[in-house]
Amino acid sequence: MLILLKIIHMFGLYVGGAAGIGNGLLLTKTLKSGQPPSPVVAQVMGLIGKMGFVAIILLWLSGLGMIAVNNAWSTLDWAFWVKLLGATLVLVAASIMTAMGVKAEKTGVPPDLKKIKAVSKLAHVGLPLAVIFAVVAFS
Ligand code: HEM
Repeated sequence: MLILLKIIHMFGLYVGGAAGIGNGLLLTKTLKSGQPPSPVVAQVMGLIGKMGFVAIILLWLSGLGMIAVNNAWSTLDWAFWVKLLGATLVLVAASIMTAMGVKAEKTGVPPDLKKIKAVSKLAHVGLPLAVIFAVVAFS
């Protein structure tokens, strides 16, 4: 069970990280162009955003699952809590950006890309914190 959860955790990390980099690049290039994204690019950004959100949910579920399986809450040190702070920043950012994307899809009004860029900065801080302090906590 632990191995399965760890594999899910690593896939979540891979897909979540790739989604963040992919959409980050598309967003930066679109904002620099001064034009709205083409319909295809907008659709791809929405899809990548949803994949990233699912990946982050899987990171949380598998992470909580690993701790539950190991019954390890009482053994977690300060580095783990810094990692969890980073993971929380990533979850908050991804939730807000996904909600903005879903609202845009429902209303047909494109999301404010500058706002999305500002929210994504939370994830830029959170992801390195989560990765670096995961390694510190579990080495
Ligand atoms: C953005 C979110 C997250 C990222 C980027 C992340 C990243 C990582 C990385 C890189 C490792 C491997 C560390 C190593 O083995 O040296 C790891 C392991 C682990 N993570 Fe996460 N993680 C995230 C969220 C979470 C959450 C929310 C929890 C639990 C509440 C969690 C619990 C764990 C546990 C228990 C391990 C140790 C697995 C083991 O070696 O037995 N993670 N994580």
